[in-house]
Amino acid sequence: MTSDKKGAAIGQVDLKKAQQPGVQRGRDTKLQQLGRQTISTLYMLVRNVKMYDPDNDIFVQPFENLRTAINTIVAVDGLYQLQACGTTVYVNNKQLQLDFASLDNVRFLTEEFKARDVGGFNVARPVQLQELKDFIWIFSPRNEASVEEDGVQGKKLLNIKVGKFAKIHLHTDDEVRYILAGRGYFGFVEPDDGQFLVEVAAGDYINVPANTEHWFEMRDSGRIKAVRYFIDTSGWTPVYTGRVREFAETAATA
Ligand SMILES: [Fe+2]
Repeated sequence: MTSDKKGAAIGQVDLKKAQQPGVQRGRDTKLQQLGRQTISTLYMLVRNVKMYDPDNDIFVQPFENLRTAINTIVAVDGLYQLQACGTTVYVNNKQLQLDFASLDNVRFLTEEFKARDVGGFNVARPVQLQELKDFIWIFSPRNEASVEEDGVQGKKLLNIKVGKFAKIHLHTDDEVRYILAGRGYFGFVEPDDGQFLVEVAAGDYINVPANTEHWFEMRDSGRIKAVRYFIDTSGWTPVYTGRVREFAETAATA
C-alpha cells in the first residue's frame, strides 16, 4: 500500500487509499499532540485579547507557537481543520483527547467561538503571524464587525477560512456523514424556498446531495461525533449562498 496523493487528511476516511498502520499511528499521535498545543494556545490568546491588543508583546511567543504548530500540521496533512463545540474538539476530523484539567479552558474557547458564530477554522496553506493576529482580533471586545468566512472588515484573512457551518451553504460534492454519538440538526432549503430541520443522532447516516442548500447546528445538543466520507477535499469546502435562515438559533426544539 502506498500513499500517492498529496494533501489527503488523516482522520478523514479517504476512499481512494489506505494508510500503512504503523505510519498512521505515528501521525495520529503527532496530530493529537500538536492539536492540543493549538487549542491551549488559542485559549490563551482569545482570553488575553479581552485585555490586550494582538500586537502586544505578551503575545509574541504564543503567536509564534501557534503558527509553528498549525504549519506543521499543514505540512504533514495538507490542511489544518479545527471544529469545536462544547468540550469536543476535532482537528482534521480526529477528536482530540483532552485532559480533564483543560476542559474549562476548552469550554471557554468554544463559548467565545459560539458567541461570534465561529464553528472553527481551516488553514490550507502555511499561515503567517499577521493573519493569526487578524483572526484573534475577531474575539477582541473592540471588534464590532460581523464575522465572515474571510474574517472581519479591514482585517481580511487570506489562508485562514472561518468555519460557519450554521450559515446556509452547499457543496459541489455529496456531504455524507455517519453519526457516531450525540445529536445535531441539519437544516435544508426546499425548492419552494421553505426550510426544515432534520435531527440526526447516533446510528444515523445522512447524505446531503451535491448543490443542496443546507446548514448544520447544535441547538440544545452539547455534543455530536460524526465521521465524514469524501472523495476529495474540493467538494467539501462550503459555498455560502447568502440565504438567511428562518429558524431561531437558540430555540430548544425544531
Ligand atoms: Fe455542509
